[in-house]
Amino acid sequence: MNITHLSAEQAAVADAVQQGLTAVSKSLPPWLFYDAAGSLLFEQITELPEYYLTRVERGIFAAHARQMLAGAAQGQRLSLWELGAGTASKTGLLLRAALEQQGRVVYHPIDVSESALAAACRQIERSLPGVQVVPHVADYTRNLVLPAAAAASPERRLVLYIGSSIGNFSPQEALALLRSVRRQLAPQDGLLLGTDLVKDEATLLAAYDDTAGVTAAFNRNILLHINRELGADFHPERFAHRVRWNAVASRMEIYLESLAAQRVRIPATGLEISFTAGETIHTENSYKFTVPGAQRLLEAAGFTLRTTWMDRRNWFGVHLAQANRAEQVRAVSGMQ
Ligand code: AVI
Repeated sequence: MNITHLSAEQAAVADAVQQGLTAVSKSLPPWLFYDAAGSLLFEQITELPEYYLTRVERGIFAAHARQMLAGAAQGQRLSLWELGAGTASKTGLLLRAALEQQGRVVYHPIDVSESALAAACRQIERSLPGVQVVPHVADYTRNLVLPAAAAASPERRLVLYIGSSIGNFSPQEALALLRSVRRQLAPQDGLLLGTDLVKDEATLLAAYDDTAGVTAAFNRNILLHINRELGADFHPERFAHRVRWNAVASRMEIYLESLAAQRVRIPATGLEISFTAGETIHTENSYKFTVPGAQRLLEAAGFTLRTTWMDRRNWFGVHLAQANRAEQVRAVSGMQ
């Protein structure tokens, strides 16, 4: 493979790999999980008995979608904007409630993957004919720009950021992301944020280390992705899937542990990386929140928390927050 002829996708992977694997503590960014195989494996994870997050959040929507939509609308019409391509099974519950409330609804999914967006559009349009889907291909983590609302539009925007995706960012990154969302909104617009909550360690460990080994395959797939993009010669079976609950940082940590001393060549980067036996690559963090913690994050980003809905075990929280007026946002940022 020739270093000078990398596609934009390969160059991004090469940059991330170079940065992460030449550091003293090796790491890889979790976006590298999501090639086609990784996205399929993640879909399988969401159906595992141990991975309660998707099921529990869906149950919260099934029970409370009407109240969520009514709370966000406050008697106005809503448009729905989703960060990430939604699925009919979860987002569909919110869209159905919006249809009941206002007859028709415009739904704007925003995702970096054109194919994920196309699949989501087909799924939603097929199951909910009253919904007009307007997809936007964009990386909302880098540069979130929502098309300007029509002048004097009486419509309110409701941004959906569900699935606990916020948990895969560091606290600083999460704050920056929610601030960028706030900058795109008008006062009174809404944000519906799904967060996984702190719970007993055994439940958390099982959710990220299932008995069928799907999460292990998802974790190792990051190495196959690098092999494919950069011509590397990782042997995924020479790395073990490891998870740990870090109570101080309130996060699940996911690693790949080298089972022996080994060297890996990554031709497109010109690198040869050595691993000692037992050395780890940190591949993901998944932060777990408390309701006061989620409230602090939302407030620091310029929102006021209106309502949190939880399941009966308090395992997952869906928070409806409202964008503050601009002067309130400045006052909060100035305090930090
Ligand atoms: C996408 N994200 C919310 C998942 C999580 O739970 O943090 C990713 C995941 N990693 C391992 N299992 C699921």
